[in-house]
Amino acid sequence: MKKTKYDEQKLIEAARQARKFAHARYSHFQVGAALLTKDGRIITGSNVESSSYGLTICAERVALTKALSEGIEQFEAIAIAARDGMFTPPCGACRQLLFDYAPDIDVILSNGHEFQKFKLKELLPHAFDDSSLGEK
Ligand code: THU
Repeated sequence: MKKTKYDEQKLIEAARQARKFAHARYSHFQVGAALLTKDGRIITGSNVESSSYGLTICAERVALTKALSEGIEQFEAIAIAARDGMFTPPCGACRQLLFDYAPDIDVILSNGHEFQKFKLKELLPHAFDDSSLGEK
């Protein structure tokens, strides 16, 4: 088996723990995310829903914006855990924001028993990014 430079199970466990703090009173769909930094720190997030539904923030974007707002900018992987028995892929908005700040990141989906691992670039091919703005 290919040895990776980080412990996927530890990251998944952090996402599962973060899911406990989901504020999902409208959808009842609880999501946890755990972002691994290049220097080994784990920043977690859970989804936070609003009575004005469109203001809801996904777990992945909570984790990412927490990290960025604390000056953390180098990321290795993100694990996502929602319902056991289901793999929950990141929504399109989360793929875009992750791509803007961590285009080379691994995305790990846990169903509570097994995980699937993707490169974000596989999940968001031909992405719009700052090169599209002519700034790269
Ligand atoms: N959700 C996430 O937190 N991450 C995803 O990748 C998909 C969806 C949340 C948003 C909303 O609170 C609930 O799941 C149902 O869409």
